[in-house]
Amino acid sequence: MVTIKSKREIELMREACRVVALTYEELEKKIKPGMSTWELDQIAEKKMRSLGAIPAEKGYDIGIKGVPKYPATLCVSINDEVIHGIPSKNKIIKEGDIVSIDTVALKDGFNGDAARTFIIGNVSKETKRLVDVTKQAFFEGIKYAKPGNRIGDVSHAIGEYVRSQGYSVVREFQGHGIGREMHEDPGIPNYGKAGRGIRLEPGMTLAIEPMVIQGKPNILELDDGWTIITEDGSLSAHYENTILITEKEPEILTIL
Ligand code: MF3
Ligand code: CO
Repeated sequence: MVTIKSKREIELMREACRVVALTYEELEKKIKPGMSTWELDQIAEKKMRSLGAIPAEKGYDIGIKGVPKYPATLCVSINDEVIHGIPSKNKIIKEGDIVSIDTVALKDGFNGDAARTFIIGNVSKETKRLVDVTKQAFFEGIKYAKPGNRIGDVSHAIGEYVRSQGYSVVREFQGHGIGREMHEDPGIPNYGKAGRGIRLEPGMTLAIEPMVIQGKPNILELDDGWTIITEDGSLSAHYENTILITEKEPEILTIL
């Protein structure tokens, strides 16, 4: 079911999303080579709780038999890891890495969701371009996030932009509606046909999240049941914000 948020609910969405933005502000300051992804997770959890929020990914149940509940505040996916990398004391961030972080804050019953890819020190021009294109793909998509347009218009814009830049979008995972639930309808693929899917309406809150691979689009899942990696070993980046559909331009709720 696609939920339309009331004025009051939009205020609560704004606040949950602000927590996510503040968490990224903190992570951006602290992320350094030599740190473990577990340390990053601790920083994020502390920040969220200090702002009266709960890390919503912690304990998240994907609903597949045998897959444990997600154990952490952050997903931290380094280089060829696409999404859902589990923080660990043994995973150390190095100079030259790209580190994709995805997190969700739950505050007063509402969820805010965003992802960023951080560049650690010096990387090649081509790696920097991957990270830039992934972010830009989100902005290309939300140009169409207006009443009257359809979800497919957003999906199509993202997919075509990424393709035009010589990269691939991940097909098995997608953006989503968000509100009281982390994942609500509609699903928002990062590719598709313009003119298809539900019509956008003011009061919808959506998490739009291009996941981009430098090489082929194929992915693999590791034995931990969570971590997704690229099949060809090429790099992957992720960028996501929660947005609000308004009468005019969309509002990006997870940017301060
Ligand atoms: N935040 C992710 C999303 O964008 C969900 C991650 S799954 C979890 O939809 F288990 F880590 F929560
Ligand atoms: Co999301």
